[in-house]
Amino acid sequence: MSHLPSEEELFLQVYKRFPAMIDHGRGMYLYDETGKQYLDFLSGIAVNALGYNHPAVIGAVEHQLQRNMHLSNYFIQDVQLELADKLLKLTPYSKLFFANSGTEAIEGLIKLARKRGLAKNKKRIIAFEGGFHGRTLGAVSITGQGKYRDSFEPLLPLVNIVPFNDVPAFKAALGDDVAAVFFEGITGEGGIHPVSDEMLQAMDEGRKKHDYLIIVDEIQTGVGRTGHFFYSETFSFTPDAMATAKGLGGGLPLAAFLVAGHLEQVFSPGEHGTTYGGNPLACASGLATVNTIAEPSFLKHVRETGAYLMERLEGIASAYPDLCGEVRGQGLMCGMDVSRHGAEIMRAAFDRGLIFNIAGGGATLRFLPPLIVEKEHIDEAMEVLLNILKNF
Ligand SMILES: Cc1ncc(COP(=O)(O)O)c(C=O)c1O
Repeated sequence: MSHLPSEEELFLQVYKRFPAMIDHGRGMYLYDETGKQYLDFLSGIAVNALGYNHPAVIGAVEHQLQRNMHLSNYFIQDVQLELADKLLKLTPYSKLFFANSGTEAIEGLIKLARKRGLAKNKKRIIAFEGGFHGRTLGAVSITGQGKYRDSFEPLLPLVNIVPFNDVPAFKAALGDDVAAVFFEGITGEGGIHPVSDEMLQAMDEGRKKHDYLIIVDEIQTGVGRTGHFFYSETFSFTPDAMATAKGLGGGLPLAAFLVAGHLEQVFSPGEHGTTYGGNPLACASGLATVNTIAEPSFLKHVRETGAYLMERLEGIASAYPDLCGEVRGQGLMCGMDVSRHGAEIMRAAFDRGLIFNIAGGGATLRFLPPLIVEKEHIDEAMEVLLNILKNF
């Protein structure tokens, strides 16, 4: 690839990329242009839920490719209908909207909360410290991490960022002017911190009193990642709406937001829309992905391999108590805190053919393997990690 200009010459420098040109992937592995193999415990940041070259996904995309790659949302499209029907049958929601990316799904829901709140004079949004909802201005406004928001003030007004899992602070922020509460069931970028039961209870009680929307961001936790098709299935109540993306498209850009029956009529024709959202290729890939993951035996596999990964990480954490801290997660969304050198550990693993990344500002090693991972892959990854950690 020496005939090409370098990445630094071409792109805005917003990413710290791994120093490799990836050529292709197979199953759980990526291969760079020199043929070096990497075991992938990142999955394109939770996108490649079925790994690389899954036959069901390839077959569905190839078939759709021969039919059409794009129409527009002026047409009724069978593959969109099929995927929407499947998602609504898997959830308590009654209508959905397809978008391209997580941040767009969040934007749509901010607009929905605004519109619904308008008539009731509800304009305020509550979100949480450590939360991450995307990079567009609305999503940045409800993202509770200074490094993603501070340079972009002024952001959306009337947003309160409250400490996560701090019930008294949350209750103190409530009022009849609250339009919506946005949260992740388990923070992804924020370092794999699950929402507490007490916090969930407080959100639900507050909703009864103040009539706001509870909106769950399942962009990272969704589509089987936690061993449940959606993590919010484990809550004692149903959020009013949900955003999902990442694994949903099985590798192609696809997102959705799903709403409960009482929100079906909030938008009027023309008030929201997208050119690409629900693109037929992405929906074909998404349908094959969702059909595979929604099988109870598949979700059981995620829970079992996830429990094994957690057990192995806990073993490693106790072998290096000075360096490693808490291990957290659900299913195949796992994190292990480190007291120092998170970025260097990630890089050393990469050099030895294991890919994962860091979250929580570098304090947490984050593991998001494709959901097809087997125990042998986990053993292989943990062997690499054990060997590396002794150098830090
Ligand atoms: C929880 C959560 N919400 C929103 C987003 C934004 O999604 P996208 O990058 O597809 O816009 C992400 C992406 O990492 C995420 O993890």
